[in-house]
Amino acid sequence: MTIHEVRKKYLEFFESRGHVVISSASLYPENDPTTLFTGSGMQSMIPYLLGEEYPKGNRVADSQKCFRTQDIEEVGDNRHTTYFEMLGNWSLGDYFKKEQIPWVFEFYTKVLGLDPKRLYVTVFCGNEDIGIPKDEESVNIWKEVFSNVGIEAKDVDNSEDRGMCDGRIFYYDETKNWWSRAGAPQDMPEGELGGPDSEVFWDFDPDELKKTHENSEFSKKPCHVNCDCGRFLEIGNSVFMEYQKTADGFEQLKQKNVDFGGGLERMVAAALDEQDMLRIPVFTSSRRVLESLSGKKYGDDKEETRAFRVILDHLRAASFLMGDECGVEPSNTDQGYVVRRLVRRAIRYGRQLGIKEGPWTQKLVEAVAGEYEESYPEIRKNEKRISKWMQDEEEKFMKTVERGLKELQKMEKPTGKELFVLYSTYGFPLEMSFEELGTLASDQEVLTEEFHKEAKKHGELSRTASAGKFTGGLADQSEEVIRLHTATHLLNEALRQKVDPSITQKGSNITSERLRFDFSFDRKLTDKEVADVEELVNKKIGEGISVERKEMPLQKALDSGAQAEFGAKYPDTVSVYSIGDFSKELCAGPHVSSTSEIGKFKVLKQEAVAAGVRRIKATVE
Ligand code: SER
Repeated sequence: MTIHEVRKKYLEFFESRGHVVISSASLYPENDPTTLFTGSGMQSMIPYLLGEEYPKGNRVADSQKCFRTQDIEEVGDNRHTTYFEMLGNWSLGDYFKKEQIPWVFEFYTKVLGLDPKRLYVTVFCGNEDIGIPKDEESVNIWKEVFSNVGIEAKDVDNSEDRGMCDGRIFYYDETKNWWSRAGAPQDMPEGELGGPDSEVFWDFDPDELKKTHENSEFSKKPCHVNCDCGRFLEIGNSVFMEYQKTADGFEQLKQKNVDFGGGLERMVAAALDEQDMLRIPVFTSSRRVLESLSGKKYGDDKEETRAFRVILDHLRAASFLMGDECGVEPSNTDQGYVVRRLVRRAIRYGRQLGIKEGPWTQKLVEAVAGEYEESYPEIRKNEKRISKWMQDEEEKFMKTVERGLKELQKMEKPTGKELFVLYSTYGFPLEMSFEELGTLASDQEVLTEEFHKEAKKHGELSRTASAGKFTGGLADQSEEVIRLHTATHLLNEALRQKVDPSITQKGSNITSERLRFDFSFDRKLTDKEVADVEELVNKKIGEGISVERKEMPLQKALDSGAQAEFGAKYPDTVSVYSIGDFSKELCAGPHVSSTSEIGKFKVLKQEAVAAGVRRIKATVE
């Protein structure tokens, strides 16, 4: 069974239940200043979950290309990857739990052929503080579907402490059974959508003969389905998306939605009962190429197997990120930086496997292109470009490695400052220094802080901001990002008032350390103009104006003079953020509630991006 067969079966299954099948969105989200990559199918569906009519209907199924950096440190184990495909089905205010749960069960047991005795499920235990009840409705439906196949499904609380207790359905809190893009309820910004979810797990070791748990570092505590020992694998998640965060808690959305997401590769691993996900057929040809390049055999040695897995994941991810219709090449900023890190990390692990002669990474691109020939032809179509970018990167990196390693070896017990010098002089990444030195996690924190302090002094803002993103996940919805986001709206208007009334937004990107704003204009701003813009933005910050959000039809918003980004696609119902009568923009948020929260605004630099497009980078202190 291959991922291509399972993808096809899944989409057919939901198509025959009234779903329209849509193709995967790009790995680079549109109109979302807070995220660098598409990490879930949900991202492009937000307006429709909020109640806007989806033109193709209210039942949708897809297979979405996803890239997540949050789990990068875990890549190398038997089940984590940065790139994966997520099968999804959506009810946009149509069906809910009593259809969704039996369908998921039917798909797993009848179509994939999974033994129901080896399936376990989790549900949300409820949280009184936020007024969200225990999900008993899902429990009752799960009991019924299991009972229909002769299994009595017992529900169990606190299995983290008590173990499985012969249960089939387990309650967990919001750290496991709540889904929103921002994570648990308390981490969600105002306006964000979320809901309780119900996950399905596959048991790789039902008779405990493989002794997965006993042989793992987790053996001191009882095993439960969310234990990290590798016995259980989460293969699907039905999110019951029915809440929106507001200033005073949670509100029911106008409609009840379902957002199901299941990792395609994981489903195949379960169907093949293959505990090592990196052994499923989609990786076979890449693995063979690597075996022949290194002369090593996958599975022979623990550390080497980890290296194999990192390379298989990272070069597949990089091929997709470069081959995407909006693909980017390795660089020192933002998405390009992440691509660079993937390729360089893969090369470093290649060295560990003994691959010293390069360039070799393009051989893996060839294998990936072949594997995805039919389902994602863009890799084959763009293969030349991808291979060239990979080879160039490899050459650059090999020079860096040679010089950097030499320097690093001379250092006795380097400080964060010295590691920064290594980075700024030779481009030798901090993460690689840690790997090379075998630095403990506790020391890494201190060194990282020193490193960033030093970087700030040297004005290396954008690069290190991206470095932060790579280890800490995506550009997040942290307070800094939200403050910079509102500052971006002020800047947008200030440019029109102080420089030229015809200026419009061309792009925006925000990290926790700076905003980047592209706008239509054809020359460098004078120092006076920059100072005037700064002064006006700071004046508006000083006035402590409250920021308001309203939903309205797109046309009405445009007629009211709200700013929109030229060329961007907007849904029919949009949210409009106003900052007093100073600024009004179409925007998905989030924003601070008063401009007084922003801090002092400062332009860092300006540059040209393309003919007629200028860029400003700025920060708030
Ligand atoms: N949005 C949920 C997830 O990413 C389900 O699709 O897991």
